[in-house]
Amino acid sequence: MISEKSHSVAYRAHTNIALIKYWGKRNKELFLPVTSSLSLTLDQFYTDTKLSWNDQTPSDTFTLNGQVQDANAVQNVSRFIDMFRELSGINQHVHVDSVNHVPTAAGLASSASAYAALAAASNDLFQTNLSRQELSTYARQGSGSASRSLFGGFVLWNKGVDDDSAASYAEQIDEADWDIGMVVVVINNEKKKISSRVGMEHTIQTSPFYSLWPETVEADLEKMLPAIEVRDFKTIGEIAEHNAMKMHATVIASNPSINYWEPKSLVAMDIVRDLREAGIDCYFTMDAGPNVKVLCRLSQAHIIKEAFSSAFNDDQLIITGPGRQAYKLADGEF
Ligand code: PMV
Repeated sequence: MISEKSHSVAYRAHTNIALIKYWGKRNKELFLPVTSSLSLTLDQFYTDTKLSWNDQTPSDTFTLNGQVQDANAVQNVSRFIDMFRELSGINQHVHVDSVNHVPTAAGLASSASAYAALAAASNDLFQTNLSRQELSTYARQGSGSASRSLFGGFVLWNKGVDDDSAASYAEQIDEADWDIGMVVVVINNEKKKISSRVGMEHTIQTSPFYSLWPETVEADLEKMLPAIEVRDFKTIGEIAEHNAMKMHATVIASNPSINYWEPKSLVAMDIVRDLREAGIDCYFTMDAGPNVKVLCRLSQAHIIKEAFSSAFNDDQLIITGPGRQAYKLADGEF
């Protein structure tokens, strides 16, 4: 019997960047994706979330980076925690205290690490005892990419079949404990203008190229998995860069057209191409925003950062290695 009097737990989850993108849901209520996707978890960006309750907690409350959140934000978090209240049969309200950790005001605090940390903390607080794989199917219902942030290294989120929620889970496929990392180029740290949820739905509805997206993702995954297994960095990078460009081309072909790039994004892409011509293997990827992430050998990240310093400030350039799986914080670590 668990004590409902007073209790708290804290978890850390790292964010992840997709090398093969998730772009489109086949079931919006359950966040079931059209395709599988694959990512690398990053050590420099993470969310710490502490959940607590006591007898006096009359309704859910939510604090992010020390700021009390509005009713809308509380509602999103409450709906998510409802899944754990239902599973456990414990109808306690909770206080959610989250802190996003990024080296600068990078604007990369992501819903992926946020919902992964919240899922892991909820599983512990409500003692629902879900396995990490099962937990990924719950994190997914906060934000699709959050399913991948429960794991470290290279992570595959399986699309699953039909409307079977349990079949659309994430799993680690490689620890990424080798010479690989990213240089994150921060171009704009403001909240994105078109959320990924809205952007992907608009693309599905209006882009004539969307019908080609699922098969091209399948083909990329088929080549990516063996490349990761043999640590073929060049092939991993080439597939990732091409996959990102195909996603953005599909998005741009929406009607009316939407576009996540800014002029400086193009500058960053050119620097990557110049570096490659100079013999340094590196590749870019981009998500639903203007920031550019450069996949590289971690041992060469400082050379890449140096090359970018002609066009970007030091605080816009963040080197990161692979991150570990979501884990419980010890007392005093929060
Ligand atoms: O999980 P969401 O809803 O934030 O969507 C993520 C979409 C991309 O970042 C563009 C791709 C991905 O797989 O992470």
